[in-house]
Amino acid sequence: MANESRPAAEAGEQLSPERRVFLARLSMVLAAIGALIVAIPVVGFILGPLFEKFPRVWRRVGALNDFKVGETVKVDFLDPSPLAWAGVAAKTAAWLRRTGEGSFVAFTLHCTHLGCPVRWIATADLFLCPCHGGVFYADGSVAAGPPPRPLPGVPVRVRDGQVEILASAVPLSRWRSR
Ligand code: FES
Repeated sequence: MANESRPAAEAGEQLSPERRVFLARLSMVLAAIGALIVAIPVVGFILGPLFEKFPRVWRRVGALNDFKVGETVKVDFLDPSPLAWAGVAAKTAAWLRRTGEGSFVAFTLHCTHLGCPVRWIATADLFLCPCHGGVFYADGSVAAGPPPRPLPGVPVRVRDGQVEILASAVPLSRWRSR
């Protein structure tokens, strides 16, 4: 009866050294398992996008006759792998120029310096980057400023009277690899 009323700490003093070591090790193992259960999904969430392969998808950007020969316009389309909750962030864009009856060229929107969106200035026949003054000629080659490479082209085709652009993920690796 007296034993039952003793505080737990006092009862713990009666544990043998072997039992204490066993309980200490058991608690360490359980703590390690708990940490792993929490860490694995977190690490997967952080590193997963680095290894994910995004599909490339042809996106319609308008009918052939929506575009005038010689004119450069910005066309919006959906990211190749839009997430259900992405909203307006799922939209991306490219600069598109009709060069002939059935021929087009397209360029990415992103400057090859640090990725700012470039603007087409029709009166100057140039793409300008607002961030650090990068300038590109109409064919995408670098005219001035810090951009190290031409504006990357984007594949474009005409199918059934519709102009289509090959949408791909934003090419962050191009800037990372500098
Ligand atoms: S991001 Fe375009 S010049 Fe720097």
